Amino acid sequence: MIQKCRVCGKEYDVDAIIYNCECGGLLEIKYDFESIKEKVSKESLRERELGVWRYLDYLPVKDPAKIVSLHEGGTPLYKCENLAKKLGMKELYVKNEGANPTGSFKDRGMTVGVTRANELGVEVVGCASTGNTSASLAAYSARAGKKCIVLLPGGKVALGKLAQAMFYGAKVIQINGNFDEALVMVKNLALENKLYLLNSVNPFRLEGQKTIGFEICDQLDFEVPDMVILPVGNAGNISAIWKGFKEFKETEMIDRLPKMTGIQAEGAQPIVKAIKEGLDEIVPDENPETIATAIRIGNPVNAAKALDAIKSSGGLAESVNDEEIIEAQKLLAQTEGIFVEPASASSIAGLIKLINMGLIDKDQKIVCITTGNGLKDPDAAIKASKMPTEIECDMEVLRKAIEE
Ligand code: F0G
Repeated sequence: MIQKCRVCGKEYDVDAIIYNCECGGLLEIKYDFESIKEKVSKESLRERELGVWRYLDYLPVKDPAKIVSLHEGGTPLYKCENLAKKLGMKELYVKNEGANPTGSFKDRGMTVGVTRANELGVEVVGCASTGNTSASLAAYSARAGKKCIVLLPGGKVALGKLAQAMFYGAKVIQINGNFDEALVMVKNLALENKLYLLNSVNPFRLEGQKTIGFEICDQLDFEVPDMVILPVGNAGNISAIWKGFKEFKETEMIDRLPKMTGIQAEGAQPIVKAIKEGLDEIVPDENPETIATAIRIGNPVNAAKALDAIKSSGGLAESVNDEEIIEAQKLLAQTEGIFVEPASASSIAGLIKLINMGLIDKDQKIVCITTGNGLKDPDAAIKASKMPTEIECDMEVLRKAIEE
């Protein structure tokens, strides 16, 4: 097990605290797949409970006694027949990451990231966040007895997430700036050794998130979906899940790979633009804006990995506007009973848009990932809802009200 630069190939010891290669490239954790293949089989995996730690053999942990867990992963993969019928599709699934302990997929990354912090013996962890990362890190650091510092874009974090970060006891600092600026600042603190950084530039965190790919295969009895669609912000998750699928193929758990399709909000879509314009690099968006505050990111740090995932898998990239996001959020709730936050609904909005554009084959097996729970952003949900009817405590009035 080593850390390896994706650009120049330089290798670093797993215990080196480093976030980028000397050349500036992003790092990745590499394993000896032959030894994993010898150790695991589909059957042996299933002896452990479904969740991140079912896949321990694929994770960068030396000492399992140091694992910090809140039972993350093992989220439902819902077969969505009502929504599929509405969209004229054959087989649609939703992998609902909102069912994680703090309500988002970030918990998969943090269980591994904070375990790493534990193994390294660091006392202070930190991150910049549009909300979910901070809620998750605050929870896992509380469980591990570590100090946690989070930087948030002031006024742009959904209420539920802010409540979580504060309540779990993190030191919460709001900056008068956006997420991209917060990330630069907290990374500077990390380089000054003031904290161990757990944003998705940290390759260990992404190792936890790759288990979404493992679980999707596992839950479909090792039948690979044709396409996986998910929201993209800082672009760690799409990169991590792609890595997971590739590692499952490498170790002969699956025999093909899905197409990875990334959806961004219209007001924050540097990756979508780069794909559509055939560029090798993104052009950062200086003023990202969207109702889906979780993905209000203009300069995704994992852009290079995400561009590779989309291009080499043969996937698509599309943007959706705020109205499409809210419509999709409601549609998912009202056809399937799945309540997700706006950023998460962008995967469904993207699916609908791509179907309408004729770019998705309706006979394919498609998995949309919904990344965060709807309760995270009550303001957005209330704003998009019809307010309750108020009446006096009178049966006659009530009978009339239910007819309306
Ligand atoms: N969906 C939700 C609900 C998120 O919170 C995020 C990212 C994403 C999608 C995008 O994932 O960054 O890996 O491409 N939220 C981060 C945060 C940035 O700080 O909570 P990504």
